[in-house]
Amino acid sequence: MAKAVKEVARVPVWCKLTPSTTDIVAEARASFNAGADAIVSSNTFPSLPPIDPETLEFEMNVDGYVSSGGLGGPAILPLSLAKMAQMTQAFPDKAFSGIGGIADFSHALNYFLLGCGTVQVCTAAMLDRAIGPSVIKALNEGLAAFLEANEERGWKTVEDFRGLRRDRVVTHSKIRRPDGKGYFGGQDAPEGYAAPQAVEKA
Ligand SMILES: Cc1cc2nc3c(=O)[nH]c(=O)nc-3n(C[C@H](O)[C@H](O)[C@H](O)COP(=O)(O)O)c2cc1C
Repeated sequence: MAKAVKEVARVPVWCKLTPSTTDIVAEARASFNAGADAIVSSNTFPSLPPIDPETLEFEMNVDGYVSSGGLGGPAILPLSLAKMAQMTQAFPDKAFSGIGGIADFSHALNYFLLGCGTVQVCTAAMLDRAIGPSVIKALNEGLAAFLEANEERGWKTVEDFRGLRRDRVVTHSKIRRPDGKGYFGGQDAPEGYAAPQAVEKA
């Protein structure tokens, strides 16, 4: 599909991927191999509305019935970041555009730090007079304030901090664990139990 579009397109072709896949890196690889100029991610995540505990009805329904629908907005920011990190690590020299859960610059910054050169907004824009004038204004102002706050680092554009945290995403085995006594297998320190009694030796 991307190849067919690329053959006739006179503008750059960006492929937007669904996150509803086991290995999104494989999808990105196929897109780049077909000539895609950039990858956009994420599309919405498959979801169902929660069930109201009193009425036992889905919060949104038609005659009591629901179908799986795409979820966007704040809930998908961490999910979408995980997908994006997989791809920007696999293809650090390729172009990526981040979307999913962005409503202000602090959200967008995540995507930039993981390696995206641009970001996009859907849900927050829809909630902002349907086209997002305030959201876009706040994003631009947030970027300007961030650059100003980091002036001493010499940052002037997104390119100056793009990908700065891309390599901080590692496998579980590379995460340092506390050693010795203070570590309770990743659980909180034991609470509510009597401290072990000292046993007096006879
Ligand atoms: C109501 C609605 C309609 C959408 N329609 C499209 C569409 O036609 N094409 C598309 O690529 N993505 C579409 N999306 C997905 C969004 O562009 C976006 O990828 C997703 O919602 C995540 O971003 P967000 O958290 O900013 O909403 C739609 C999303 C919503 C909520």
